[in-house]
Amino acid sequence: MDEVKVAVLGASGWMGRVHTMAYQTFPHFFGTGGGTARVVALVGGKSAALEDLAFRAPGAKILQTWQEAVADPDVDLIDICLPDNLHYEVAKAALLAGKHVFCEKPLADTAAQARELADIAGSKGLITRVGHAFPRNPVHDRAKEIIEAGEIGEIKLFKGCQHVDMYGDPLAPYMWRANGDLAPTGIVGDTGSHVFSFMEFLVGKVSTLIADNYIVTHKRPVVEGAELGAGTTLTGDEDWADITNPDGSNVLCNFASGARGMVDFSRVATGRKFMQTYEIYGTRGSLSYTYDEVNRLRFYSNDDPIGRRGYREIDVGPEHQTYGAFLPLPNFALGYNESKIIEVAEVIRSIVTKTPMWPTFETGHHICQIVDACMESSRLKRWVDIP
Ligand SMILES: NC(=O)c1ccc[n+]([C@@H]2O[C@H](COP(=O)([O-])OP(=O)(O)OC[C@H]3O[C@@H](n4cnc5c(N)ncnc54)[C@H](O)[C@@H]3O)[C@@H](O)[C@H]2O)c1
Repeated sequence: MDEVKVAVLGASGWMGRVHTMAYQTFPHFFGTGGGTARVVALVGGKSAALEDLAFRAPGAKILQTWQEAVADPDVDLIDICLPDNLHYEVAKAALLAGKHVFCEKPLADTAAQARELADIAGSKGLITRVGHAFPRNPVHDRAKEIIEAGEIGEIKLFKGCQHVDMYGDPLAPYMWRANGDLAPTGIVGDTGSHVFSFMEFLVGKVSTLIADNYIVTHKRPVVEGAELGAGTTLTGDEDWADITNPDGSNVLCNFASGARGMVDFSRVATGRKFMQTYEIYGTRGSLSYTYDEVNRLRFYSNDDPIGRRGYREIDVGPEHQTYGAFLPLPNFALGYNESKIIEVAEVIRSIVTKTPMWPTFETGHHICQIVDACMESSRLKRWVDIP
């Protein structure tokens, strides 16, 4: 049995906790044939939270800096769950130190940085992965099968969106996600990149786009220790910080295949706790998905007889290997954390079998190209080509 030794960076944050859980959980569902993982080091965050995590990852060292983890000869895989602006620097150092890297999205602040990371990984033969876990819910494997079998014909139009309301309230506190230094591409890299990952997975490469990025609320109160999504009562004594990256964007794009795309995403959609949808229209049929019914795909086919046509609901169930790994019965939905467990199982299998699996840093590079193009297009107010 191959064991991969992992250091989780940003361990006490949201993703750090989810990834730490997933390394220890996946063999319960996927067995040990694809290797196992041991979390040997945790880096960063509040000490109390880290001590608590150390209890959940028995034997893991608590390190003070990411540099210590990268230099640690006992670590095979560096798992980056840090704020966006650190991804490039840390991933580069880790790859140069000969470590495999699993990096949360967005892979880097720019496509040029992402390209450099993919090239270093390629030249060193290291396994890479970007944290686009949503398309790894098995319902999207079904969508891909239907598309690849030609059942919806030639794709003409992709419509996708992702909206949350974390900044719907103009008084919601400032956080690193709204700081253009710590998250240079704002919602475009944060949430847009998830929609772009579906586009990459199901439709293919984007060749040109025009984007209109916007900021709705330009200043927010600074509340020390405010947690994402937690309610806060303002005292009136707060400092106010400028919001220096986009709150939302509307994007039109063309795919290399000739298909068209319409995409919108934001963090200001009041009442939308998590809205994620796509619709894919082809010459013979179409597909439709919403996160509100996370294991369900709607499929329309022109091949159905006239008078019987309509969207049929396809619920992914235990006949799909990945669903069946978790649940023996249909209709017990797989949710967000299961997608992350699937993702981590694939990361470990990738390393143990030396087989890159989607989405690698090559995919991350193309998604960063789309993000770059959105930033440039919105600044220049015109269409931008993606090489
Ligand atoms: N794939 C997804 O669905 C998904 C969801 C949420 C976040 N993310 C991504 O994951 C990353 C982390 O987001 P999060 O929500 O977990 O953030 P978070 O704020 O909850 O956690 C970030 C962690 O990094 C630590 N940290 C910050 N600077 C550090 C430094 N210099 N050295 C060491 N530790 C440091 C913080 O203390 C904290 O523990 C982001 O890039 C985000 O875009 C992905």
